[in-house]
Amino acid sequence: MKKECVLVCGGAGYIGSHTTVELINAGYDVVIVDNFSNSEMSAVENVRKITGVEIPCIEADCCDMEAFRKVFEKYEFNSAIHFAASKAVGESLEKPMLYYRNNLTSLMNLIDLMREFGRQNIVFSSSCTVYGEPDKQPVTEQTPRKPATSPYGNTKQISEDILRDSMAAYKGMKTIALRYFNPIGAHPSAMIGELPRGVPQNLVPYVTQTAAGIRECLSVFGDDYNTPDGSCIRDYIDVTDLAKAHVAAINRMIQGRSEENYEIFNVGTGRGVSVLELVNKFQEVNNVKLNFKIAPRRPGDIIAIWADPTRANTVLGWKAERTIEETLASAWNWEKHLRGIK
Ligand code: NAD
Ligand code: WQD
Repeated sequence: MKKECVLVCGGAGYIGSHTTVELINAGYDVVIVDNFSNSEMSAVENVRKITGVEIPCIEADCCDMEAFRKVFEKYEFNSAIHFAASKAVGESLEKPMLYYRNNLTSLMNLIDLMREFGRQNIVFSSSCTVYGEPDKQPVTEQTPRKPATSPYGNTKQISEDILRDSMAAYKGMKTIALRYFNPIGAHPSAMIGELPRGVPQNLVPYVTQTAAGIRECLSVFGDDYNTPDGSCIRDYIDVTDLAKAHVAAINRMIQGRSEENYEIFNVGTGRGVSVLELVNKFQEVNNVKLNFKIAPRRPGDIIAIWADPTRANTVLGWKAERTIEETLASAWNWEKHLRGIK
């Protein structure tokens, strides 16, 4: 029997590469399209090594309609996962037009081409950033979205709205938007993981680079918040668990189980972990000493947010499985692999 094929836009990136592995494990064929603006071909090569499958990878920009159309002309797939976007919050404040153009044009091109070629299913990478600073914890999918605090966050809100309105209009097409909480960690093989460019802005890459001696000292941004230990709280989700949520979403749409043409799911563990807890667990589980200091609050930070993942657990049939300890061990293994540390 011919396998179902899934187009993975941004499949060379951090979450896309892990999702490609899980799609192949689940019996799907995959075609990757990526412009390598924030990734390297070596990630795709390593995905091929992990899976033993010669996954096709087309270098193209999803904002370039003609180049993108060629992918639709050449490959038969009924589903696409849209990871292709620019994702650095700070950069989006400096270069808003880059973010609006890249994140919105690539999505609109995808919707238009899916429609033109009669393809049905889209999974979209949304983010807990759409909730802003929530009034109540944990957040459910019904928790109101707050005005975005960055152009990046705004592109996620606008993208959700574009998908909601398009799915209402274009019968036969379906979308699942997954609102990721904080993805961390790496594949257990340590062959793929996150590749931050320059100085990492996110906590875990900064932690692993500090442990590896590339950064001198981790700054913990604030210990005077109104939380049990004074540091901020997040819901850290293992990237392989997150990848499996995409497989569950594709299965749901292909098997005709979607109840609406546009559905939203929170993808988190349901557990809030503070920055100081994470730092301590990282040291314990990996038996390394981390140089860190308490620094002033980072402007714009949300104090606390974690997911209520009940809907994903019960409706999507997906649940986070890894412990934070396993995930922090995988993050350190990946950093050691990258740096050749034994
Ligand atoms: P990433 O940068 O590692 O992956 C994105 C990939 O898309 C990269 O390989 C990049 O080269 C590619 N890309 C970007 N623009 C493109 C374009 N126009 N055409 C073709 N390819 C393009 O990022 P990631 O962490 O894997 O994130 C994937 C998605 O998940 C993004 O949409 C991001 O906004 C979203 N997301 C990420 C996080 C996170 O913390 N990592 C959290 C919530 C949501
Ligand atoms: C986590 C915690 C920091 C670095 C970002 C985006 C969000 C989403 C996920 C895409 C915070 C603290 C960090 C450091 C620190 N991405 N920290 N020292 O800010 O929750 O979310 O990534 O959609 O949109 O905003 O993640 O990893 O930057 O920070 O103390 O060197 O770690 O203050 O409390 P954040 P993060």
